[in-house]
Amino acid sequence: MTNRARRRDRRVYLRSHPILFMMLAIARRRTVLRIGRTVIVNGTDEYREALTRLPIDRTAKGTTGGSADLLSQGRQLFNEDHAGHRESRRAAAQLFGSDGVARVRPLWLEVLRRRSAPLADGKAIDVVGATREVASVTAAALLGLPGGGESLAVAAADAASRTIRDEILSFGRRGPRRSTRAAVARLFGLVNASTLDQGMAGVTAIAATTTMMAALPRAVAWCADEGLWGHAADPGTRDALVDELLRVIAPTPMLPRAAAADGTIGRCPVHQGDRLFLVNRHAAESYRIGPDPGNPRPSRVSHLIFGAGPHTCPGALLARTQLADALAMLAPYRPVVVRARADRRAAFPGWAALRLRAGTA
Ligand code: HEM
Repeated sequence: MTNRARRRDRRVYLRSHPILFMMLAIARRRTVLRIGRTVIVNGTDEYREALTRLPIDRTAKGTTGGSADLLSQGRQLFNEDHAGHRESRRAAAQLFGSDGVARVRPLWLEVLRRRSAPLADGKAIDVVGATREVASVTAAALLGLPGGGESLAVAAADAASRTIRDEILSFGRRGPRRSTRAAVARLFGLVNASTLDQGMAGVTAIAATTTMMAALPRAVAWCADEGLWGHAADPGTRDALVDELLRVIAPTPMLPRAAAADGTIGRCPVHQGDRLFLVNRHAAESYRIGPDPGNPRPSRVSHLIFGAGPHTCPGALLARTQLADALAMLAPYRPVVVRARADRRAAFPGWAALRLRAGTA
């Protein structure tokens, strides 16, 4: 069963970025590996060390920060050196923290209930479409926009995947093309009525949608393939299942960063300007140990998929609650996967189509 789940899940990597992930898989035996000016970090402690102890240049070309700069319209919202970072973090904590989750949760529960109902009549459901709607209504509510449909998630996914291709996969050499700038402008057209400022609105729209569109369908497919619905139905094991599924799928598997100063990671010297590939898929032991809700890895390991240190993901609670709700809603039907097609263009490895049908109890 585990093999089937892992085999299916591997397709999302092999279809979207085959060369990159083959290269990372070959490098994973070493906790830290230097190739020229690139340092690949795989070890659990070394990954944490890189994010908490080494100064990181959050605006460097070819990194997530370089992309976020475009997506936040030059506001450098979550840049470590930026005086406003603490203020942005406080705003984010208020927005996505427990109060924010309590405010927005009824909206996504309604979508999940409606979208999973056809299972009761023996019909198939579209998990990717449902996730797009969940992500859209969530982001719209966080941004104070009248929300409905899937348009916000569609626009955010398009802007993010184009930006990542132009900025990160070209190692910062290409810069945004005209079509990428147009996609970002389309997204800002949708969020410009937000009560938040424009930069924060753009980053929130991207962060809250693209990650969940990668995470939720992959986690559901793995749960179905490995027959873990019993744990999903049980409130006593559901949270552990969520952490374990997120750990094995590692939705944002590699963080591209750049060193802002000389230092070390493990015993490897790092020089200012070195490109860092921080592979949370390896640091969180995703590829090595399958999900075990009865004996989960400690949270200091599983939560590494949300980063570490001052920039740790402020949306982790929201993400985990949303996935727990989706699994709880689906569990009574014990669904099985009837169709899965990988997304070749998505910002993060994910499914373009995932259809489920009720299984036998
Ligand atoms: C399973 C889903 C998610 C995963 C795997 C994920 C992962 C991450 C990671 C790895 C980082 C970078 C951390 C670092 O550099 O140390 C990050 C940052 C961030 N995430 Fe998430 N995230 C998810 C969902 C969300 C959601 C739902 C939201 C908003 C509602 C969100 C908002 C943010 C923001 C605003 C940042 C930037 C924080 C900063 O730089 O200070 N994320 N996330």
